[in-house]
Amino acid sequence: MIPTISGVFLTVSLMKISVVGGGYVGLVTAACFAELGHEVSIIDRGAAKVNAINAKKPPIYEEGLEELLQHHVGMRLRASTSYDSVPFSDLTFICVGTPPNPDGSADLSKMKAASRSIGSVLKNSSNYHVVVVKSTVPPGTTENIVVPTVLQKSGKSDDTIGFAMNPEFLREGRAIADFMHPDRIVIGSRNLRDGDRVAEAYKGISAPILSTGLPAAEMIKYASNAFLATKISFSNEMGNICKKLGIDVYEVMRGAGMDKRIGPYFLDAGAGFGGSCFPKDVHALIKLAETVGEDPILLRSVIDVNEKQPGRIVQLLKARIGDLKGKRIAVLGLAFKDNTDDIRESRSIPVIEELLKSGAVIAAYDPMANSSMQKIYPSLTYCSTAADALRGAEGCLVMTEWPEFKNIEKEFDLMANRLIIEGRRILSCKGAEGICW
Ligand SMILES: NC(=O)c1ccc[n+]([C@@H]2O[C@H](COP(=O)([O-])OP(=O)(O)OC[C@H]3O[C@@H](n4cnc5c(N)ncnc54)[C@H](O)[C@@H]3O)[C@@H](O)[C@H]2O)c1
Repeated sequence: MIPTISGVFLTVSLMKISVVGGGYVGLVTAACFAELGHEVSIIDRGAAKVNAINAKKPPIYEEGLEELLQHHVGMRLRASTSYDSVPFSDLTFICVGTPPNPDGSADLSKMKAASRSIGSVLKNSSNYHVVVVKSTVPPGTTENIVVPTVLQKSGKSDDTIGFAMNPEFLREGRAIADFMHPDRIVIGSRNLRDGDRVAEAYKGISAPILSTGLPAAEMIKYASNAFLATKISFSNEMGNICKKLGIDVYEVMRGAGMDKRIGPYFLDAGAGFGGSCFPKDVHALIKLAETVGEDPILLRSVIDVNEKQPGRIVQLLKARIGDLKGKRIAVLGLAFKDNTDDIRESRSIPVIEELLKSGAVIAAYDPMANSSMQKIYPSLTYCSTAADALRGAEGCLVMTEWPEFKNIEKEFDLMANRLIIEGRRILSCKGAEGICW
Protein backbone atom coordinates (compact mmCIF):
# COMPACT_ATOMS: atom_id res chain seq x y z
CA MET A 1 0.00 0.00 0.00
CA ILE A 2 1.50 3.32 -1.07
CA PRO A 3 0.35 6.62 0.49
CA THR A 4 -0.07 9.61 -1.83
CA ILE A 5 -0.19 13.25 -0.79
CA SER A 6 -3.88 13.23 -1.54
CA GLY A 7 -4.18 10.66 1.26
CA VAL A 8 -5.26 7.90 -1.13
CA PHE A 9 -3.59 4.50 -0.69
CA LEU A 10 -2.54 2.89 -3.92
CA THR A 11 -2.01 -0.79 -4.48
CA VAL A 12 0.06 -0.66 -7.63
CA SER A 13 3.11 -2.75 -8.32
CA LEU A 14 6.19 -0.58 -8.03
CA MET A 15 8.08 0.00 -11.24
CA LYS A 16 11.35 1.73 -11.91
CA ILE A 17 10.87 4.44 -14.50
CA SER A 18 13.30 6.78 -16.24
CA VAL A 19 12.01 9.93 -17.92
CA VAL A 20 14.28 11.62 -20.47
CA GLY A 21 13.56 15.36 -20.65
CA GLY A 22 12.47 17.28 -17.56
CA GLY A 23 10.41 19.98 -19.30
CA TYR A 24 6.64 20.54 -19.07
CA VAL A 25 5.73 17.01 -20.11
CA GLY A 26 8.68 15.11 -18.63
CA LEU A 27 8.60 16.76 -15.22
CA VAL A 28 4.83 16.39 -14.86
CA THR A 29 4.97 12.78 -16.10
CA ALA A 30 7.77 11.95 -13.66
CA ALA A 31 6.12 13.66 -10.68
CA CYS A 32 2.79 11.95 -11.40
CA PHE A 33 4.38 8.50 -11.79
CA ALA A 34 6.10 9.08 -8.43
CA GLU A 35 2.70 10.03 -7.00
CA LEU A 36 1.37 6.72 -8.36
CA GLY A 37 4.03 4.93 -6.32
CA HIS A 38 6.78 4.30 -8.85
CA GLU A 39 10.46 5.05 -8.39
CA VAL A 40 11.29 7.67 -10.98
CA SER A 41 14.51 9.18 -12.35
CA ILE A 42 14.41 12.28 -14.53
CA ILE A 43 17.24 12.75 -16.99
CA ASP A 44 17.75 16.22 -18.41
CA ARG A 45 20.78 17.65 -20.15
CA GLY A 46 20.26 21.00 -18.38
CA ALA A 47 22.21 21.01 -15.11
CA ALA A 48 20.32 24.07 -13.79
CA LYS A 49 16.99 22.33 -14.32
CA VAL A 50 18.26 19.14 -12.65
CA ASN A 51 19.54 21.11 -9.65
CA ALA A 52 16.25 22.98 -9.31
CA ILE A 53 14.26 19.73 -9.38
CA ASN A 54 16.53 18.10 -6.80
CA ALA A 55 16.11 21.21 -4.64
CA LYS A 56 12.32 20.61 -4.90
CA LYS A 57 11.87 23.87 -6.86
CA PRO A 58 9.98 23.36 -10.11
CA PRO A 59 11.75 25.19 -12.96
CA ILE A 60 8.31 25.88 -14.49
CA TYR A 61 5.05 26.95 -12.93
CA GLU A 62 2.38 24.28 -12.91
CA GLU A 63 -0.35 24.08 -10.30
CA GLY A 64 0.37 21.36 -7.71
CA LEU A 65 3.84 20.58 -9.09
CA GLU A 66 5.83 22.12 -6.26
CA GLU A 67 3.78 20.13 -3.75
CA LEU A 68 4.55 16.88 -5.61
CA LEU A 69 8.27 17.71 -5.75
CA GLN A 70 8.30 18.61 -2.06
CA HIS A 71 6.74 15.27 -1.28
CA HIS A 72 8.59 12.91 -3.61
CA VAL A 73 12.07 14.32 -4.37
CA GLY A 74 14.60 12.46 -2.28
CA MET A 75 12.10 9.62 -1.79
CA ARG A 76 10.73 8.25 -5.07
CA LEU A 77 11.89 11.00 -7.43
CA ARG A 78 15.27 12.35 -8.42
CA ALA A 79 16.87 14.13 -11.35
CA SER A 80 20.24 13.76 -13.02
CA THR A 81 22.12 14.79 -16.15
CA SER A 82 23.29 11.19 -16.57
CA TYR A 83 21.48 8.25 -18.18
CA ASP A 84 22.81 5.85 -15.51
CA SER A 85 19.33 5.01 -14.19
CA VAL A 86 18.09 3.67 -17.56
CA PRO A 87 19.55 0.09 -17.39
CA PHE A 88 17.98 -0.34 -13.94
CA SER A 89 14.55 0.87 -15.07
CA ASP A 90 11.62 -1.13 -16.43
CA LEU A 91 10.54 1.70 -18.68
CA THR A 92 12.15 4.80 -20.17
CA PHE A 93 9.83 7.55 -21.39
CA ILE A 94 11.28 9.96 -23.95
CA CYS A 95 9.82 13.46 -23.38
CA VAL A 96 12.30 15.66 -25.22
CA GLY A 97 11.18 18.62 -27.31
CA THR A 98 10.27 18.23 -30.99
CA PRO A 99 10.32 21.90 -32.07
CA PRO A 100 9.60 23.03 -35.62
CA ASN A 101 12.29 23.16 -38.31
CA PRO A 102 12.26 26.36 -40.40
CA ASP A 103 10.05 24.58 -42.99
CA GLY A 104 7.46 23.59 -40.34
CA SER A 105 8.43 19.91 -40.13
CA ALA A 106 9.27 18.42 -36.71
CA ASP A 107 12.92 18.67 -35.65
CA LEU A 108 13.73 15.17 -34.43
CA SER A 109 17.37 15.79 -33.54
CA LYS A 110 16.70 15.65 -29.78
CA MET A 111 14.69 12.46 -30.23
CA LYS A 112 17.63 10.91 -32.11
CA ALA A 113 20.13 12.08 -29.49
CA ALA A 114 18.01 10.66 -26.64
CA SER A 115 17.60 7.34 -28.52
CA ARG A 116 21.37 7.10 -29.01
CA SER A 117 22.03 7.79 -25.32
CA ILE A 118 19.43 5.24 -24.20
CA GLY A 119 20.79 2.60 -26.59
CA SER A 120 24.36 3.16 -25.39
CA VAL A 121 23.55 2.64 -21.72
CA LEU A 122 21.42 -0.44 -22.44
CA LYS A 123 24.43 -2.21 -23.97
CA ASN A 124 25.36 -4.03 -20.77
CA SER A 125 21.86 -4.66 -19.49
CA SER A 126 20.12 -8.01 -19.83
CA ASN A 127 16.79 -6.93 -18.30
CA TYR A 128 13.68 -6.61 -20.43
CA HIS A 129 13.22 -2.85 -20.92
CA VAL A 130 10.63 -0.84 -22.83
CA VAL A 131 11.48 2.48 -24.47
CA VAL A 132 8.37 4.67 -24.69
CA VAL A 133 8.09 7.74 -26.91
CA LYS A 134 5.88 10.34 -25.23
CA SER A 135 6.98 13.37 -27.25
CA THR A 136 4.76 14.34 -30.16
CA VAL A 137 6.40 12.87 -33.26
CA PRO A 138 5.32 12.32 -36.89
CA PRO A 139 3.98 8.84 -37.69
CA GLY A 140 6.84 6.47 -38.43
CA THR A 141 9.32 8.14 -36.06
CA THR A 142 9.25 5.44 -33.39
CA GLU A 143 9.45 2.58 -35.88
CA ASN A 144 11.97 4.13 -38.28
CA ILE A 145 14.17 6.23 -36.01
CA VAL A 146 13.85 5.27 -32.34
CA VAL A 147 13.73 1.47 -32.76
CA PRO A 148 16.76 1.13 -35.10
CA THR A 149 18.82 3.73 -33.20
CA VAL A 150 18.28 2.12 -29.78
CA LEU A 151 18.84 -1.41 -31.13
CA GLN A 152 21.95 -0.45 -33.08
CA LYS A 153 23.53 1.48 -30.19
CA SER A 154 22.70 -1.23 -27.63
CA GLY A 155 23.62 -4.15 -29.87
CA LYS A 156 20.43 -5.91 -28.66
CA SER A 157 17.45 -7.44 -30.39
CA ASP A 158 13.84 -6.46 -29.82
CA ASP A 159 13.41 -9.57 -27.63
CA THR A 160 15.08 -7.72 -24.76
CA ILE A 161 14.12 -4.17 -25.67
CA GLY A 162 10.49 -3.33 -26.31
CA PHE A 163 9.09 -0.15 -27.85
CA ALA A 164 5.91 1.83 -27.39
CA MET A 165 4.40 5.19 -28.27
CA ASN A 166 2.28 6.83 -25.60
CA PRO A 167 1.21 10.35 -26.66
CA GLU A 168 0.55 12.93 -23.98
CA PHE A 169 -2.62 15.04 -23.99
CA LEU A 170 -2.07 17.22 -20.91
CA ARG A 171 -2.83 20.95 -21.05
CA GLU A 172 -0.34 23.34 -19.49
CA GLY A 173 -1.88 25.08 -16.52
CA ARG A 174 -3.89 21.96 -15.68
CA ALA A 175 -1.18 19.43 -16.41
CA ILE A 176 -1.23 17.40 -13.21
CA ALA A 177 -5.01 17.08 -13.12
CA ASP A 178 -4.98 16.10 -16.81
CA PHE A 179 -2.27 13.49 -16.28
CA MET A 180 -4.04 11.94 -13.29
CA HIS A 181 -7.53 12.11 -14.86
CA PRO A 182 -7.09 11.66 -18.61
CA ASP A 183 -9.98 11.02 -21.02
CA ARG A 184 -8.00 8.10 -22.40
CA ILE A 185 -4.52 6.58 -22.38
CA VAL A 186 -3.28 5.71 -25.85
CA ILE A 187 -0.58 3.05 -26.05
CA GLY A 188 0.85 2.14 -29.42
CA SER A 189 3.09 -0.88 -29.58
CA ARG A 190 4.34 -3.66 -31.83
CA ASN A 191 3.17 -6.44 -29.52
CA LEU A 192 1.02 -7.01 -26.42
CA ARG A 193 3.98 -7.59 -24.13
CA ASP A 194 5.45 -4.09 -24.70
CA GLY A 195 2.06 -2.36 -24.54
CA ASP A 196 1.03 -4.20 -21.35
CA ARG A 197 4.27 -3.18 -19.63
CA VAL A 198 3.45 0.48 -20.32
CA ALA A 199 -0.17 0.04 -19.18
CA GLU A 200 1.12 -1.32 -15.86
CA ALA A 201 2.72 2.04 -15.09
CA TYR A 202 -0.70 3.70 -15.27
CA LYS A 203 -2.38 1.36 -12.77
CA GLY A 204 -4.24 3.51 -10.30
CA ILE A 205 -5.46 5.90 -13.01
CA SER A 206 -9.03 5.39 -14.03
CA ALA A 207 -9.26 5.88 -17.79
CA PRO A 208 -9.89 3.71 -20.84
CA ILE A 209 -6.74 2.39 -22.48
CA LEU A 210 -6.67 2.38 -26.25
CA SER A 211 -4.12 -0.03 -27.70
CA THR A 212 -2.98 0.71 -31.24
CA GLY A 213 -0.02 0.23 -33.52
CA LEU A 214 2.92 2.63 -33.23
CA PRO A 215 2.11 4.99 -36.15
CA ALA A 216 -1.59 5.20 -35.23
CA ALA A 217 -0.67 6.33 -31.70
CA GLU A 218 1.61 8.98 -33.20
CA MET A 219 -1.13 10.13 -35.58
CA ILE A 220 -3.81 10.24 -32.84
CA LYS A 221 -1.89 13.04 -31.16
CA TYR A 222 -1.66 15.09 -34.38
CA ALA A 223 -5.32 14.45 -35.24
CA SER A 224 -6.40 15.54 -31.74
CA ASN A 225 -4.41 18.76 -31.73
CA ALA A 226 -5.34 19.61 -35.31
CA PHE A 227 -9.03 19.08 -34.55
CA LEU A 228 -8.92 21.28 -31.44
CA ALA A 229 -7.04 23.99 -33.37
CA THR A 230 -9.69 23.72 -36.10
CA LYS A 231 -12.48 24.27 -33.56
CA ILE A 232 -10.74 27.44 -32.37
CA SER A 233 -10.13 28.84 -35.86
CA PHE A 234 -13.69 27.95 -36.83
CA SER A 235 -15.03 29.82 -33.79
CA ASN A 236 -12.81 32.80 -34.60
CA GLU A 237 -14.11 32.91 -38.16
CA MET A 238 -17.68 32.73 -36.86
CA GLY A 239 -16.76 35.53 -34.44
CA ASN A 240 -15.35 37.74 -37.19
CA ILE A 241 -18.57 37.30 -39.19
CA CYS A 242 -20.80 37.76 -36.12
CA LYS A 243 -19.05 41.01 -35.16
CA LYS A 244 -19.90 42.51 -38.56
CA LEU A 245 -23.50 41.36 -38.13
CA GLY A 246 -23.78 42.63 -34.55
CA ILE A 247 -24.39 39.14 -33.18
CA ASP A 248 -22.79 37.84 -29.96
CA VAL A 249 -20.61 34.92 -31.08
CA TYR A 250 -20.49 33.57 -27.52
CA GLU A 251 -24.26 33.10 -27.55
CA VAL A 252 -23.98 31.52 -30.97
CA MET A 253 -21.23 29.03 -30.08
CA ARG A 254 -22.91 28.22 -26.77
CA GLY A 255 -25.98 27.23 -28.72
CA ALA A 256 -23.96 25.31 -31.30
CA GLY A 257 -21.90 23.58 -28.61
CA MET A 258 -25.00 22.24 -26.88
CA ASP A 259 -25.27 19.83 -29.79
CA LYS A 260 -23.58 16.63 -28.59
CA ARG A 261 -22.08 16.15 -32.02
CA ILE A 262 -20.22 19.45 -31.62
CA GLY A 263 -19.51 19.66 -27.87
CA PRO A 264 -19.01 22.80 -25.77
CA TYR A 265 -15.21 22.92 -25.63
CA PHE A 266 -12.70 24.96 -27.63
CA LEU A 267 -15.40 27.19 -29.09
CA ASP A 268 -14.24 30.44 -27.45
CA ALA A 269 -13.63 33.03 -30.15
CA GLY A 270 -10.73 35.39 -29.52
CA ALA A 271 -7.14 36.20 -30.42
CA GLY A 272 -6.32 32.65 -31.55
CA PHE A 273 -4.34 29.69 -30.28
CA GLY A 274 -0.71 29.73 -29.15
CA GLY A 275 1.47 27.52 -27.00
CA SER A 276 4.18 25.05 -27.79
CA CYS A 277 1.85 22.48 -29.35
CA PHE A 278 -1.07 23.56 -31.56
CA PRO A 279 0.82 25.83 -33.99
CA LYS A 280 3.82 23.52 -34.25
CA ASP A 281 1.75 20.33 -34.56
CA VAL A 282 -0.58 21.73 -37.23
CA HIS A 283 2.45 22.97 -39.19
CA ALA A 284 4.12 19.56 -38.85
CA LEU A 285 0.94 17.83 -40.05
CA ILE A 286 0.75 20.15 -43.06
CA LYS A 287 4.34 19.30 -43.92
CA LEU A 288 3.66 15.60 -43.43
CA ALA A 289 0.62 15.76 -45.74
CA GLU A 290 2.69 17.52 -48.40
CA THR A 291 5.40 14.88 -48.26
CA VAL A 292 2.82 12.23 -49.15
CA GLY A 293 1.36 14.32 -51.98
CA GLU A 294 -1.74 15.59 -50.14
CA ASP A 295 -2.86 19.21 -50.18
CA PRO A 296 -4.09 19.93 -46.61
CA ILE A 297 -6.46 22.77 -47.54
CA LEU A 298 -8.35 22.79 -44.24
CA LEU A 299 -5.23 22.72 -42.04
CA ARG A 300 -3.70 25.60 -43.97
CA SER A 301 -6.84 27.66 -43.40
CA VAL A 302 -6.73 26.86 -39.68
CA ILE A 303 -3.26 28.44 -39.55
CA ASP A 304 -4.28 31.38 -41.80
CA VAL A 305 -7.20 32.35 -39.57
CA ASN A 306 -4.99 32.01 -36.49
CA GLU A 307 -2.23 34.18 -37.89
CA LYS A 308 -4.62 36.97 -38.86
CA GLN A 309 -6.44 37.20 -35.49
CA PRO A 310 -3.75 39.09 -33.50
CA GLY A 311 -3.49 41.72 -36.28
CA ARG A 312 -7.26 42.27 -35.98
CA ILE A 313 -7.03 43.36 -32.35
CA VAL A 314 -4.40 45.99 -33.20
CA GLN A 315 -6.46 47.15 -36.22
CA LEU A 316 -9.45 47.55 -33.92
CA LEU A 317 -7.34 49.56 -31.47
CA LYS A 318 -6.18 51.83 -34.31
CA ALA A 319 -9.74 52.21 -35.56
CA ARG A 320 -10.75 53.45 -32.10
CA ILE A 321 -7.81 55.71 -31.14
CA GLY A 322 -6.01 56.40 -34.43
CA ASP A 323 -2.23 56.68 -34.72
CA LEU A 324 -0.49 54.75 -31.92
CA LYS A 325 2.81 56.64 -32.12
CA GLY A 326 3.97 57.59 -28.61
CA LYS A 327 0.73 56.32 -27.02
CA ARG A 328 0.93 54.16 -23.90
CA ILE A 329 -0.89 50.88 -24.46
CA ALA A 330 -1.44 48.43 -21.60
CA VAL A 331 -1.10 44.77 -22.58
CA LEU A 332 -2.69 42.55 -19.93
CA GLY A 333 -1.63 38.93 -20.25
CA LEU A 334 1.55 37.64 -21.90
CA ALA A 335 1.35 33.88 -21.28
CA PHE A 336 -0.26 31.88 -24.07
CA LYS A 337 -3.00 30.90 -21.65
CA ASP A 338 -3.85 31.32 -17.99
CA ASN A 339 -2.14 29.42 -15.16
CA THR A 340 1.21 29.12 -16.89
CA ASP A 341 4.37 31.17 -17.36
CA ASP A 342 4.84 29.70 -20.85
CA ILE A 343 4.86 32.31 -23.63
CA ARG A 344 5.75 30.01 -26.52
CA GLU A 345 3.74 31.17 -29.59
CA SER A 346 1.64 33.37 -27.31
CA ARG A 347 -0.73 35.57 -29.31
CA SER A 348 0.56 38.51 -27.32
CA ILE A 349 3.87 38.26 -29.22
CA PRO A 350 2.51 39.25 -32.68
CA VAL A 351 0.41 41.91 -30.94
CA ILE A 352 3.50 43.38 -29.23
CA GLU A 353 5.32 43.25 -32.60
CA GLU A 354 2.52 45.22 -34.31
CA LEU A 355 2.28 47.72 -31.46
CA LEU A 356 6.03 48.34 -31.54
CA LYS A 357 5.96 48.77 -35.33
CA SER A 358 3.25 51.39 -34.86
CA GLY A 359 5.37 53.29 -32.32
CA ALA A 360 3.22 52.49 -29.27
CA VAL A 361 4.76 52.53 -25.78
CA ILE A 362 3.88 49.20 -24.18
CA ALA A 363 3.15 48.72 -20.48
CA ALA A 364 2.85 44.97 -19.98
CA TYR A 365 1.56 42.90 -17.09
CA ASP A 366 1.19 39.17 -16.57
CA PRO A 367 0.76 37.46 -13.19
CA MET A 368 3.47 34.93 -14.09
CA ALA A 369 5.03 35.49 -17.48
CA ASN A 370 6.66 38.96 -17.22
CA SER A 371 10.14 37.51 -16.86
CA SER A 372 9.65 35.02 -19.73
CA MET A 373 8.61 37.87 -22.06
CA GLN A 374 11.40 40.11 -20.81
CA LYS A 375 13.87 37.67 -22.37
CA ILE A 376 12.42 38.43 -25.82
CA TYR A 377 11.43 42.08 -25.36
CA PRO A 378 13.73 43.52 -22.69
CA SER A 379 12.78 47.14 -23.33
CA LEU A 380 9.01 47.05 -22.65
CA THR A 381 7.77 48.48 -19.37
CA TYR A 382 6.91 45.45 -17.21
CA CYS A 383 4.49 46.18 -14.38
CA SER A 384 3.88 44.23 -11.21
CA THR A 385 0.12 44.85 -11.19
CA ALA A 386 -2.59 45.43 -13.76
CA ALA A 387 -3.23 48.82 -12.15
CA ASP A 388 0.36 49.92 -12.81
CA ALA A 389 0.09 48.92 -16.45
CA LEU A 390 -3.24 50.72 -16.85
CA ARG A 391 -2.15 53.97 -15.18
CA GLY A 392 -2.08 56.67 -17.88
CA ALA A 393 -2.71 54.21 -20.73
CA GLU A 394 -4.69 55.33 -23.76
CA GLY A 395 -5.75 51.84 -24.66
CA CYS A 396 -5.74 48.36 -23.11
CA LEU A 397 -5.55 44.98 -24.81
CA VAL A 398 -6.46 41.87 -22.80
CA MET A 399 -4.51 38.94 -24.26
CA THR A 400 -4.74 36.09 -21.70
CA GLU A 401 -7.76 34.72 -19.84
CA TRP A 402 -6.23 35.07 -16.34
CA PRO A 403 -9.02 34.70 -13.75
CA GLU A 404 -7.68 37.74 -11.84
CA PHE A 405 -8.56 39.94 -14.83
CA LYS A 406 -12.21 39.08 -14.28
CA ASN A 407 -12.35 41.38 -11.28
CA ILE A 408 -10.60 44.41 -12.77
CA GLU A 409 -13.06 47.27 -12.63
CA LYS A 410 -12.01 50.52 -10.99
CA GLU A 411 -8.38 50.05 -12.14
CA PHE A 412 -9.57 50.92 -15.65
CA ASP A 413 -10.37 54.41 -14.30
CA LEU A 414 -6.60 54.93 -14.00
CA MET A 415 -6.38 54.99 -17.80
CA ALA A 416 -5.96 58.30 -19.61
CA ASN A 417 -8.62 57.06 -22.00
CA ARG A 418 -10.87 54.16 -21.00
CA LEU A 419 -10.57 52.09 -24.15
CA ILE A 420 -10.50 48.35 -23.46
CA ILE A 421 -10.34 45.67 -26.14
CA GLU A 422 -10.45 42.01 -25.19
CA GLY A 423 -8.71 39.25 -27.09
CA ARG A 424 -10.16 36.80 -24.55
CA ARG A 425 -13.62 37.12 -23.08
CA ILE A 426 -12.78 37.36 -19.39
CA LEU A 427 -13.68 40.83 -18.05
CA SER A 428 -16.87 41.37 -16.13
CA CYS A 429 -16.70 45.19 -16.27
CA LYS A 430 -18.91 47.13 -18.66
CA GLY A 431 -17.73 48.96 -21.76
CA ALA A 432 -15.06 46.60 -23.08
CA GLU A 433 -15.14 45.66 -26.74
CA GLY A 434 -14.17 42.19 -27.95
CA ILE A 435 -11.93 41.35 -30.87
CA CYS A 436 -14.86 39.51 -32.46
CA TRP A 437 -17.81 40.35 -30.24
N1 LIG B 1 3.99 21.29 -23.37
C1 LIG B 1 2.84 20.67 -23.57
O1 LIG B 1 1.76 21.15 -23.17
C2 LIG B 1 2.81 19.35 -24.30
C3 LIG B 1 1.64 18.56 -24.23
C4 LIG B 1 1.64 17.33 -24.89
C5 LIG B 1 2.73 16.92 -25.63
N2 LIG B 1 3.83 17.73 -25.70
C6 LIG B 1 5.00 17.25 -26.45
O2 LIG B 1 5.94 16.73 -25.51
C7 LIG B 1 7.30 16.98 -25.96
C8 LIG B 1 8.05 17.75 -24.89
O3 LIG B 1 7.42 19.01 -24.74
P1 LIG B 1 7.80 19.99 -23.52
O4 LIG B 1 6.85 21.13 -23.60
O5 LIG B 1 7.91 19.20 -22.27
O6 LIG B 1 9.28 20.45 -23.97
P2 LIG B 1 10.35 21.25 -23.10
O7 LIG B 1 11.16 21.98 -24.08
O8 LIG B 1 9.65 22.00 -22.00
O9 LIG B 1 11.21 20.11 -22.40
C9 LIG B 1 12.08 19.27 -23.08
C10 LIG B 1 13.23 18.94 -22.16
O10 LIG B 1 14.05 17.94 -22.75
C11 LIG B 1 15.41 18.21 -22.42
N3 LIG B 1 16.27 17.52 -23.40
C12 LIG B 1 16.38 17.78 -24.72
N4 LIG B 1 17.20 16.89 -25.28
C13 LIG B 1 17.60 16.05 -24.33
C14 LIG B 1 18.44 14.91 -24.29
N5 LIG B 1 19.02 14.45 -25.41
N6 LIG B 1 18.63 14.28 -23.11
C15 LIG B 1 18.05 14.73 -21.98
N7 LIG B 1 17.24 15.79 -21.95
C16 LIG B 1 17.01 16.44 -23.11
C17 LIG B 1 15.51 19.72 -22.44
O11 LIG B 1 16.61 20.19 -21.68
C18 LIG B 1 14.15 20.12 -21.84
O12 LIG B 1 14.24 20.28 -20.44
C19 LIG B 1 7.15 17.70 -27.29
O13 LIG B 1 7.19 16.77 -28.33
C20 LIG B 1 5.77 18.31 -27.22
O14 LIG B 1 5.19 18.53 -28.48
C21 LIG B 1 3.91 18.93 -25.03
